[in-house]
Amino acid sequence: MKTHRIALYPGDGIGPEVTDAAVETLTALERAVGGFHLEFTRFDWGVAHYDRHGDVVPADFLAQLRPFNAILLGAVGWPAKLPDHITLRPLIEIRQTFDLWACVRPAQTFAGVPNPLRSEQRIDLVVVRENSEGEYVDVGGRFRIGEPEEFAVQSALHTRRGIERALRFGFDLARQRRRKLTLATKSNAQRHAFVLWDNVLEQLTPEFPDIAVDKQHIDAIAMNFVRRPETFDVVVASNLFGDILTDLSGAITGGLGLNPSANLDPSRKNPSLFEPVHGSAPDIAGRGIANPVGTFLAAAMMLEWLGEKRAALRLNETVKRTLAAGAGTPDIGGRLNTAELTARIASALK
Ligand code: NAI
Ligand code: MG
Repeated sequence: MKTHRIALYPGDGIGPEVTDAAVETLTALERAVGGFHLEFTRFDWGVAHYDRHGDVVPADFLAQLRPFNAILLGAVGWPAKLPDHITLRPLIEIRQTFDLWACVRPAQTFAGVPNPLRSEQRIDLVVVRENSEGEYVDVGGRFRIGEPEEFAVQSALHTRRGIERALRFGFDLARQRRRKLTLATKSNAQRHAFVLWDNVLEQLTPEFPDIAVDKQHIDAIAMNFVRRPETFDVVVASNLFGDILTDLSGAITGGLGLNPSANLDPSRKNPSLFEPVHGSAPDIAGRGIANPVGTFLAAAMMLEWLGEKRAALRLNETVKRTLAAGAGTPDIGGRLNTAELTARIASALK
């Protein structure tokens, strides 16, 4: 029996609600499938921690997380109380310190869930977001603050190494799927950074003759995600472009509550982090109606990463079957609350 040590970081708002639901589901899954054990350690960090200790996490939080096999995060942020750049900082530090450079965000339509495009075609795509550099490096400054001449400089940093590893990850993923890769570029206007992305793509393409390679400007992709989303398989994007595109891919497939995200260190030196794409949803927090499916699917990605493929498949299939039978939370037009949907899925796992 293999034991996997999982750090739970429920966070704020609906974060603890969806994390509790995931623990209930994973516990039922462990009993149903057998052969592995998940040992959970819970870290109650976030706004409540700030109230007691003056910061959202303890100073040594990265050292506390490092020994785990994986991290399962709910969501962080509570804008009414603390600015987002304070509450989201630990998340960014985890991604950068643990070098979780590959952010993998699948988006698919589900039978039984209405999608806003009213498309008959099935959407099944994955955005691979470069997660360690690009537009999110902290390089720049604000000058002459408060004066009429005030200005801000915000630089982006794109390295050949960072681009190449993101693209290779995308190519490998495409090989396990429908063998199509699209690069989100903007080389028509950003002629330094995105021409480099284009060049690296051109250099790698001959190594993957079995993959159909496509390149579209980010604005065209935004349009085509709406017009013909079924034509996309794997989309590789820079940090900012991937961030924006995955809110869109979530929306076109039925809502943010359904979408999972994996932040991976492919070298496996550090724990990878799994989370739903959505945030802490203050507008519905505390009402017990948060959709836990995004977190369940993130947990399935975690199991897959930990080598528990059978368990991952069982969880994915059970979620799909339950949604197809018409069970769901209000955000997808359903009538169940979080606890009811979780109980439904947990009992279907048995
Ligand atoms: P959000 O994703 O929290 O909510 C957007 C909308 O989607 C809301 O109407 C919300 O009710 C709905 N929604 C989201 N998840 C849902 C779920 N599981 N079930 C049902 N409905 C759901 O984004 P918002 O409102 O822009 O941000 C709220 C806070 O979350 C902010 O502090 C933001 O910075 C933070 N945030 C944190 C993220 C993270 O922890 N990775 C990611 C995105 C935002
Ligand atoms: Mg985002």
